[in-house]
Amino acid sequence: MTEQVSPVEGVHGVVSLPGDKSISHRYAMLTAIAEGDSEIHNYSTGADCQSTLSCMEALGVDHSFSERDGRQVLTVHGKGISCLTAPSATLDAGNSGSTIRMLSGILAAQPFTTSIAGDESLAKRPMRRIMTPLAEMGARMEAANGQFPPITIHGSRLHAIDYSLPVASAQVKSCVLLAGLYAKGETVVREPITTRDHTEIALRELGADIALEPRLARVRGGAKLKGKSLVVPGDISSAAFFMVAALITRDSDLIITNVGLNPTRTALLDVLRSMGAAIKLLHVEQVNGELTGNLQIKSSAIKGGVIEGATTAALIDEIPVLALLGALSQNGLIVRDAGELRVKETDRIETIAANLRRMGATLTTTQDSLEIPGRQQLHPAEIQSCGDHRIAMAFSIAALAASGPSQIHDSEAASVSFPEFYTTLRNIAR
Ligand code: S3P
Repeated sequence: MTEQVSPVEGVHGVVSLPGDKSISHRYAMLTAIAEGDSEIHNYSTGADCQSTLSCMEALGVDHSFSERDGRQVLTVHGKGISCLTAPSATLDAGNSGSTIRMLSGILAAQPFTTSIAGDESLAKRPMRRIMTPLAEMGARMEAANGQFPPITIHGSRLHAIDYSLPVASAQVKSCVLLAGLYAKGETVVREPITTRDHTEIALRELGADIALEPRLARVRGGAKLKGKSLVVPGDISSAAFFMVAALITRDSDLIITNVGLNPTRTALLDVLRSMGAAIKLLHVEQVNGELTGNLQIKSSAIKGGVIEGATTAALIDEIPVLALLGALSQNGLIVRDAGELRVKETDRIETIAANLRRMGATLTTTQDSLEIPGRQQLHPAEIQSCGDHRIAMAFSIAALAASGPSQIHDSEAASVSFPEFYTTLRNIAR
């Protein structure tokens, strides 16, 4: 599909977003291995999180959707920690790195063999980062060329390990913690910098035996999880697109309700504010251990700046949309330590650079950095999403500030995390 996006004066109104993708994956997996039914409110509508549900269904855990007060409620009929059953076919993780990497931790401990595969993009994403710690725990696995999906996992009795993550990755941390639920003894995961901690919070909510210290989590195997009612906050990584839309357009005043504000995810707010963004937090509360709140964002003159080190890791998913903000900022944007961008749904250093250039912008890239001069005029362009949801959405936002209408090719990629993106954008654009 090709979506045409025209420039606008501003974005206005009140929007609420589908549930956070990261939290939804974790709730779907953990409630499946918890005892009893769990109701999940505001579960992500994105295709990635549907992939996780389908995988859990293929492993014998049913779920159903119902409507309450006009909203969809997902009920997962949890079967307990040891009750998954062998799937009759290869599991399909679709486009979802979170599904394949986190679920592998659970699969490694099952008394059966499972193969798990995905789409063309997933087939290029590195899996050695989960295979190494799982093998240390006693799992046996095979992967294409030793490191790519499909992966075949021969479930085994696992033993606890003390693992220091070589790459800061919440997916890998979560994979080891999930395997740790089944392992004999106490599994310890240490991370070089703090990554999103939704798994730790969800494990605690559902009754796992987990202890936390800064950049360290311990989980003891053998505890039972208990199903419960859970609410997923709106996805701050989806909010990022509309926040930038408000900042770069001349006359904007936007409220985004119920946004997840877990401190491991809010580097975006800190960075935008340090660059001059007018962002107000209107109301903050805690639900199931996760902070959520309403955000008000107004048009702002953005200075630009440097993003590097732990900050790059903390907002890695937001770099595509921040890149275009950089091109429109006063002083430009430098992003360093961003090598992980090369192994996302696309090589995002390449797909960001190619699309910014299509819009007439200049920038320089290295293996792990982007340097984008400021005060650039974006021109209408034929944008290629290359099937990457965040590239489709980021450059749709760029198109709002271009000098004429742009075409976003393969725009349907947005539905991987945010199927309502274009409808929402049309509703707020003026
Ligand atoms: C995620 C962690 C990050 C992020 C991804 C979701 C998660 O990936 O980019 O979109 O839900 O844990 P890495 O673990 O590869 O850093």
